[in-house]
Amino acid sequence: MSSTLPQAVDAQLTRAAIFLVATVNAGSEHAAAVSTLCGDLPALVRAVGFRVPNGRLSCVMGLGSDVWDRVFTVPKPKDLHPFREIRGRHHAVATPGDVLFHIRAARMDLCFELAAQIMSRFGDALSATDEVHGFSYFDERDVLGFVDGTENPVDQAAVDATIIGEEDAAFAGGSYVIVQKYLHDMAAWNALPVETQERIIGRTKLSDIELDDAVKPTSAHNALTSIEENGQPLEILRDNMPFGDVGKGEFGTYFIGYARSPKRIEQMLENMFIGRPPGNYDRLLDFSRAVTGTLFFVPSATFLETVATAISPLPTATEREDQARSRPRSSSTDGSLGIGSLKKEAGHE
Ligand code: HEM
Repeated sequence: MSSTLPQAVDAQLTRAAIFLVATVNAGSEHAAAVSTLCGDLPALVRAVGFRVPNGRLSCVMGLGSDVWDRVFTVPKPKDLHPFREIRGRHHAVATPGDVLFHIRAARMDLCFELAAQIMSRFGDALSATDEVHGFSYFDERDVLGFVDGTENPVDQAAVDATIIGEEDAAFAGGSYVIVQKYLHDMAAWNALPVETQERIIGRTKLSDIELDDAVKPTSAHNALTSIEENGQPLEILRDNMPFGDVGKGEFGTYFIGYARSPKRIEQMLENMFIGRPPGNYDRLLDFSRAVTGTLFFVPSATFLETVATAISPLPTATEREDQARSRPRSSSTDGSLGIGSLKKEAGHE
């Protein structure tokens, strides 16, 4: 049994969420501030969340590939890389982002207060690049009118789909997450007959029942995003949220997908944007434009806590060089933090 505690990746669907993506400003002091905050985050969530019993406040923190080596001295998780853009029938753009905060709660005031506390704690270290306030829309529908999230795995299946195990033992308890912000062409979508919309999604609109294979096109969204390996389904956990700005005519879906390997989500994206087979792409994209796309690693809660207490504050590059010169060669090349227990703890199931 693992003693490593994951972050709240599989928190239940909530009424409200804030998706905050930021970059870490240049300077080792800013990177050090981020590593320190890694350990402070649980206390912040507790302090804000305690004020509203049953408010179900949670926050998942993810880190991008480009910032990893600035913040931590341990080598990267094996599948962490920048989001790979896809140019197919439609374009999945890659956009900047070093840190993701996925904040969820039963009420927006809780999300808002936590986001404000986080940003104030970070001070000058972070610059927000994208912030989306999502809301739950009627019976878990997206703004296109379809129930979104039905086929998500639950309970142990959600854990199995999202939490890393022995395949990357040093990062067991972690996860990967991809976010994409989509804007919909509502006028064009609403001009379609409901039956056409249903064949695009692969489910009925009002009752949310999956279309029979006899009528469901192979290009349906839920067909292209169903993938398997050796006959076993490869699942991900989604917590998409509608957002928008009526005055600006902005109607959107914030896609967020967690998985124990980013390859699963990347495969689904390829099927959607290029097609399976190529050309048989997801018609949902004719009405939905991806305007952001970023991949993050979600370390376990244990990793975040341990790494922050162990290396706070981070030495500057010059200090690191000095340390390396005065250290015997073997200990500077083993890839460890030099704090003894961290790698060992994270690696033990
Ligand atoms: C415009 C953005 C998107 C919208 C509005 C949307 C909406 C939906 C809806 C309505 C369903 C059917 C109900 C359900 O099972 O949840 C669905 C299913 C699903 N979507 Fe999406 N989705 C979007 C983007 C994505 C992306 C980018 C991915 C993955 C890369 C994805 C992966 C899935 C998966 C895995 C399913 C379940 C398939 C199944 O097993 O039946 N979706 N989505």
